[in-house]
Amino acid sequence: MEKKPFYITTPIYYPSDKLHIGHAYCTTIADSVARFKRLAGYDVFFLTGSDEHGQKIQRKAQENKVTPIEYVDKIVDSFKHLWVKLNISNDDFIRTTETRHREVVQAIFQKIHDQGDIYKASYEGWYCTPCETFWIERQLNDGKCPDCGRPVEVVQEESYFFRMSKYQDRLLKYIEENPDFIQPASRRNEMINFIKGGLEDLCVSRTTFDWGIPVPFDTKHVVYVWFDALTNYITAAGYLHDRDKLAKYWPADIHLVGKEIVRFHTIIWPIILMALEVELPKMVYGHGWLVVEGDKMSKSKGNVIEPLQLIEEFGSDAIRYFLLREITLGMDGNFSRDALINRINADLANDLGNLLHRTLNMIGRFNNSIIEQPGETDTVDDELIKLAQNTTAEYERLMEAMDINAAIKQVWTLISRTNKYIDETAPWALAKDPAQKSRLNTVMYNLAETLRIVSILISPFMPSTAPKIWQQLGIKSDFATVCLDDAQGWGRLAAGTVVAKPEPIFPRIEEKEQAEETKPAAKPEKKQEVKVVENPATPEITIDDFAKMDLRVAKVLAAEKVKGADKLLTLTVDLGTEQRTIVSGIAKHYTPEELVGKNVVMIINLKPAKIRGIESRGMVLAASCDDKLTLVTAPEMPAGSKVK
Ligand code: MSP
Repeated sequence: MEKKPFYITTPIYYPSDKLHIGHAYCTTIADSVARFKRLAGYDVFFLTGSDEHGQKIQRKAQENKVTPIEYVDKIVDSFKHLWVKLNISNDDFIRTTETRHREVVQAIFQKIHDQGDIYKASYEGWYCTPCETFWIERQLNDGKCPDCGRPVEVVQEESYFFRMSKYQDRLLKYIEENPDFIQPASRRNEMINFIKGGLEDLCVSRTTFDWGIPVPFDTKHVVYVWFDALTNYITAAGYLHDRDKLAKYWPADIHLVGKEIVRFHTIIWPIILMALEVELPKMVYGHGWLVVEGDKMSKSKGNVIEPLQLIEEFGSDAIRYFLLREITLGMDGNFSRDALINRINADLANDLGNLLHRTLNMIGRFNNSIIEQPGETDTVDDELIKLAQNTTAEYERLMEAMDINAAIKQVWTLISRTNKYIDETAPWALAKDPAQKSRLNTVMYNLAETLRIVSILISPFMPSTAPKIWQQLGIKSDFATVCLDDAQGWGRLAAGTVVAKPEPIFPRIEEKEQAEETKPAAKPEKKQEVKVVENPATPEITIDDFAKMDLRVAKVLAAEKVKGADKLLTLTVDLGTEQRTIVSGIAKHYTPEELVGKNVVMIINLKPAKIRGIESRGMVLAASCDDKLTLVTAPEMPAGSKVK
């Protein structure tokens, strides 16, 4: 059966500066929804990107004495790096400086102009450069930008105008007839009032700077950055370039945006689409802001939280979990280090981590690490089973309604109930009495089965932890192939499964030590040992010799130990056009779950070899020195990319 398509987007962020935890928050929400939808069987297209034109970026580049493209190239690399570190599963990353996008913007500007909805006039008004927004006198707040409160500049220039006023009634009717279009409802009311106040025609070109897409028929103008930016959503979906893709994914299911830009997405964007006679997106969801210890984040206040440092310190799953669990979608939320540490200790180390640890420990001690066939169930078991099944159903309902933090709470209710179940059934007492063996088996099975279900349900929020639980439970099938349906039925865990040794998934954070550690003075300087590698006397080769090697980026889809060989792993890799199996001697340096999802570099035209009876078709590249080994990776490159 063909999968149903689902298209979700984040805003494309300005590469005027590095991203902070607020941007990471938005992308994490979108990523969890995308992952949930994939789990639920949808064909998902998840888009993020960068909004690279405009006066603000041009000025930033000038301040830094580089060209705008040099400036944005560097920052966009840092965006992509952050998304890899945060385990973001976007299917595309659009840059507004790409040719595919310029072509679409120019074509639609031309079309709307030709049909008379864009006209030339003279503009006199105010402009907020940080927000890239035009304002008229009466909209200003004490002469400042009503959105961000910063000073505005006078703009007086010949411009092209977009006849927004013509579409005002049609838009209002659409919003009224489609209650899901603007979410949450509070934002919908705000927008209705704004439109009823009357829409002015929008200035959609500038002449006083040139960092933008030229208006095709009047190149002294560049297209207004918001007109350019909003269009990214159809460019990436294939508008002009890929008819089938567009038919499949457009209209987008959700544009997820911060509350401050709902207006652009529910007024300017739909009117552009109406003028183009293209369907409107199904939903624009305005999420709230992340504030820091109650205060808005800003460089001048020095309270900007860098996501990379946090990921380094606590791991990406802990950060993702915190953001999604702590803040109710649509509302503002507070970020504090204490709250983060509390959540890690209470929910992750204690509730989830202990449940896994206790369960595996008991199966190890009482049942030789084997999940035995369960016996008859008791009332206490039936209750747990019923709760597990209800949890999956309720979780699905809440995720479909974008109530992410309530969905997480549901899963944690199940986790807490299961911890209580251990206390109620007291397996340590059952283990002492051979007559209770069947009862013990039932309890152990129920614990492991609940954890199997939990691992599936948390996978959209904690994509690294979920397969780790799976692996510790000893489940052989590849976690990447799991679907929501696997969490629906009770009893899918095969009896006879052998669990692994418990490894802590979330170590407790000791706050005192933590505080000490973050004091810069207390951090010991790590000395980098530099080892001089002698020039090995390998014979020179020509470029043609080198070109004989077909080196490619390969995505590791699955990895497992080769039985009876403690150095070997079998890897299943994706080369973009095909999947292959290879055997690699890296088991001492990488665990299978560390490898899954990595984009490694591999030679693909090496003569196949049989290793331990397995045909290995290719070899991964790694740097090694003494007993250290690191794989060569290309995290941002798609599978199949050529390495030269
Ligand atoms: N380039 C425009 C968007 C164009 S979309 C066609 C833009 N970029 S931005 O870099 O300023 O990013 C804004 C988005 O980042 C917000 O809408 C929000 O999703 C996210 N956030 C920025 N700061 C944030 C917080 N403090 N808290 C939560 N989200 C935040 O606007």
